[in-house]
Amino acid sequence: MAVLNHRKVAVIGCGFVGAASAFALMESGLFSEMVLIDANKEKAEGEALDISHGLPFAKPMNIYAGDYKDIADAYVIVVTAGSGQKPGETRLDLVKKNVGIFKSIIPQIAEVNKDAIMLIVANPVDILTYAARQLSGYPENRVFGSGTTLDTARLKYLLGRHLEVDSRSVHAFIIGEHGDSEIAAWSSANVSGIPLNDFCEMRGHFEHDASMKAIAENVKNSAYEIIEKKGATYYGIAMSVKRICEAIVRDEKTILPVSSIQHNNHGISDVALSMPAIVGKDGVECTVPISLNDAEIEALRASADTLKNVIKDVL
Ligand SMILES: NC(=O)c1ccc[n+]([C@@H]2O[C@H](COP(=O)([O-])OP(=O)(O)OC[C@H]3O[C@@H](n4cnc5c(N)ncnc54)[C@H](O)[C@@H]3O)[C@@H](O)[C@H]2O)c1
Repeated sequence: MAVLNHRKVAVIGCGFVGAASAFALMESGLFSEMVLIDANKEKAEGEALDISHGLPFAKPMNIYAGDYKDIADAYVIVVTAGSGQKPGETRLDLVKKNVGIFKSIIPQIAEVNKDAIMLIVANPVDILTYAARQLSGYPENRVFGSGTTLDTARLKYLLGRHLEVDSRSVHAFIIGEHGDSEIAAWSSANVSGIPLNDFCEMRGHFEHDASMKAIAENVKNSAYEIIEKKGATYYGIAMSVKRICEAIVRDEKTILPVSSIQHNNHGISDVALSMPAIVGKDGVECTVPISLNDAEIEALRASADTLKNVIKDVL
């Protein structure tokens, strides 16, 4: 096993998402070295310079544009390289283009570093997580996707606003595909232990079904709406990347809905999708069996089937 620098992170792909994630990671103080890689080397160099100029207001860190040889000792490798969604394009439309990019990137990573934790962010994140696992030969716990961490943050934000309560007190998950077949796991949602519907009534909301439907649709359509309005989404995912890296570096064993390969989870196997999982220094320790009702389980299986059909066509 190679000696890793546990204070070193690599970001592959320095577009909107990679640059915003690198900025969030710089601000976090979690790492002391960050290497940025992009097919467009000048872009990586420009981002490294720009982000470095914030260091006097943060914590010392060596940030530079590099090449694959520079990631040999990186502890965490964040992969954001890939095309973004164009207006009207679904995440699954992106699949062929981005699987092609992964076929070039992932073997180059695995050639120099077999021991890192690989965090996949590019879309469609579930398919690319599955592909990255195959292409890298990494053990399953050390290659996983940001999955529905962002969607879950959007859900908590919207519920927090709806209920006029701190979104950090909302405990609710989006599970399944990071995309159109995702599921809001309402049956286990609560606000600091109070079942969601009880808390809603406490705050004067009684139209549960209509509100839940509207909020879940809003979450699902957030990316489309943002892309329509500003061309790309990157701040929310950057904070998600930072949060996941924090859970890894600090060995927090935090429960996050990341995308990992499933093994007989509600009968679902051989596909990467998001379920709440314990995340720590070795990546994904295990998934957490939150309770789901029959309709949620059925929707989760349908989400898995959607992803499997894509995997069948492209891998
Ligand atoms: N998982 C999530 O929740 C989430 C959220 C937002 C965006 N995304 C995804 O993240 C990805 C990046 O989005 P973006 O807005 O930053 O796109 P972007 O087009 O701004 O950036 C992509 C970058 O990847 C680089 N790149 C392309 N091929 C490469 C290669 N072979 N090696 C190295 N670099 C390469 C490009 O030069 C570019 O700088 C997209 O797939 C997008 O859909 C995921």
